[in-house]
Formats: sequence, C-alpha cells, structure tokens
Amino acid sequence: MHKIATIPGDGTGPEVVREGLKVLEAVSQKKGFKYEIIEYDLGGDRYLKTGEVVPDSVIEELKQCNAIFLGAIGHPEVQPGILEKGLLLRLRFDLQQYINLRPVKLYPGVDCPLKDKGPDDIDFVVVRENNEGLYAGIGGFLKKGTPEEVATQEMINTRQGVERCIRYAFEYTRKKGKRKKLLLCAKTNVLTYAHDLWWRVFNEVGEEYSDITREYAHVDATCMWMVKNPEWFDIIVTCNMFGDIITDLGAMIQGGMGIAAGGNLNPEGVSMFEPIGGSAPKYTGKNIINPVAAILACAMLLDQLGEEEAARSIDDAVIKVVGTKLKGVNAGKMGYSTTEVGDLIAESIT
Ligand code: IPM
Ligand code: MN
Repeated sequence: MHKIATIPGDGTGPEVVREGLKVLEAVSQKKGFKYEIIEYDLGGDRYLKTGEVVPDSVIEELKQCNAIFLGAIGHPEVQPGILEKGLLLRLRFDLQQYINLRPVKLYPGVDCPLKDKGPDDIDFVVVRENNEGLYAGIGGFLKKGTPEEVATQEMINTRQGVERCIRYAFEYTRKKGKRKKLLLCAKTNVLTYAHDLWWRVFNEVGEEYSDITREYAHVDATCMWMVKNPEWFDIIVTCNMFGDIITDLGAMIQGGMGIAAGGNLNPEGVSMFEPIGGSAPKYTGKNIINPVAAILACAMLLDQLGEEEAARSIDDAVIKVVGTKLKGVNAGKMGYSTTEVGDLIAESIT
C-alpha cells in the first residue's frame, strides 16, 4: 500500500491535482496496486486564515509518507517569498530532496516554438541540485533603505551536497541516459570558487564512470544550445539557481508549462512531485488549465515508488491524447476543459 500525501495548494493547483488523482485511480485499477491518499490543505488560503505556513507536526507526518504530490504554491495576496520559502523550499530542505529532476521532452503533436525541431531533437533531462546554492537563504541587509544599502545573498556549495548531486546524475545517466552523456552546466569562468568545486567533483566522480562521456558548457552557452541545438543534450547536471532558470526555458521548448513536470527527490527518503508551472491565478476556477503536467508528475511519482509499468502506461496515454485529441497544450487552447483532458487520459490507460 503506497501512502501518498497530496498538497493541492494554491490557484489552479487543486484543479490539476484532481485530474492527476483521477488518472492515478484509473491506472491503479488496471495495474492492481493499492494506495491511500492523505490530503493536506497547506497554501496561501490557510496561511491567510491562520498565519501559519506549515506546522512542524505536518512535516513529521509527511516524512512518514511514501511520496508527496504537490499542485502549486503561490497566492496573489501573500507577499512573495513567504509561501515559497515557508512551504516549498522548506519541504525540499527538511525532507532533504536534494535532486530536482526535470525531463524536457517534446511529445509528438505538440507545437514547438523552435523552427525545424521535433520530438527526436528535444528529449533530455535536467538534474538540478535542490538544497543549496543561492537558495540556501544566507545573506542579509546592511543600512537597509539608505543610499549606502548593502544586500548580500550567499551561494552555498558544500562538497557533500555537490558530490551527492553529481553522483546521482552519473547514476541516472548510466540508467536512463540515451547516449550516456552527462553535461555539467556551470560558470567556471566567473564563479571561480563555487564552480571550481563543481568542476573538480564532476571530474573526480566521473573517473568512476568510464562508460559515461563527460561534457561541459557554461550556463549562458547552455541556453544558446537549448534553442539552437537541443538534440545535443542527454543529461544535464547543474546548480540550484541555474537549474531553475534553464528548466523554464526547457519547459518552453517542450511546448509549455502545461506539460512540464518535475520531481524533488530524496533517493533515500520521501520525494515530492509537481507540475513545474505556478499557481496561475488568472486561470483559477475556470476549468481551462492543462492538467497534463500534473498527470505526468503523477507518473514520475509512480516510477519512484517502483510502479514502473503504471508510470509507462500514463506516459503512453498522455502521448496518445496529446498527439491525437488536444488542439494545443496551453490553458484555454486545448479544445477541451481541464476535467475533460483528465477523463480522456484516464480512459486511455491500458
Ligand atoms: C520552481 C519554482 C520555485 C523555485 C519557486 C516557486 C520558489 O520556480 O520550482 O522552479 O525557484 O525553485
Ligand atoms: Mn522555477
């Protein structure tokens, strides 16, 4: 019995989580596995009502689950940073989800903004460090609000944190990389301390993986190649901040936020899966948001729980529906409502 926590969260989060759960139910019946859902009403509304973002007791309960399925976090009436740091980053950090795994895959039939690029060209995975770097939250102000103000935000890179991320990326490349190529995306020409560490660890650990080809690109060049020659990439490993940025670019070249999913992984503990788009307040309650990203996040969740066949079956159903039924993948442009897309995918599970 898989114990799955859901955090539908803010905005369109609940709408897409509902469709993810619909597909989960359909696939569980076909494949015969059992699960239990425990829903948590965390997010902006609860914060506005109670002033509390996540009680410590909830963190402890989440640690007892097998996986977490998150909708979206972000509320227009809550000051930026409160929910992001208090909920999303807190879960990533407290549960030591030190990998953020983001597949960038263009499905057949989905419009790609890149000229002359198709599904064969856009199929790679970004392994983003998820616990350190510029996200560590270290820094502060001096003389705030004065003309002499100083603001600092430190980029934290620990040997242990960098090594476990890079090691995971090599293992992942060995297991899933199509061309057994791992590219380090960094900025060694400017971040001559922080990314010198990444460079050294990449090469040291890489010596243990003679079957994997090592490559390197600066982050700016990585952006350029993602647009010009995305087919060059197999697996990319990168720091937290760069991973955040390049995976939004990745989401665009795979067709849009409507289909981009990701996992916050603690390979030894509890992982959390989410559509990578935000809470999309302007689409909230309209039943027009694309639930495919959330459904694919559900597939990643099942894969992590060892239900690989179920995960594949969701992926196949998505490919079928997206490629043959949907007119587009962006909110309001699908030719179907959110719930109808969920139904179509649930019905296509074999
Ligand atoms: C993401 C998001 C988060 C991040 C925000 C909401 C804190 O953009 O998951 O990429 O920056 O990691
Ligand atoms: Mn982001």
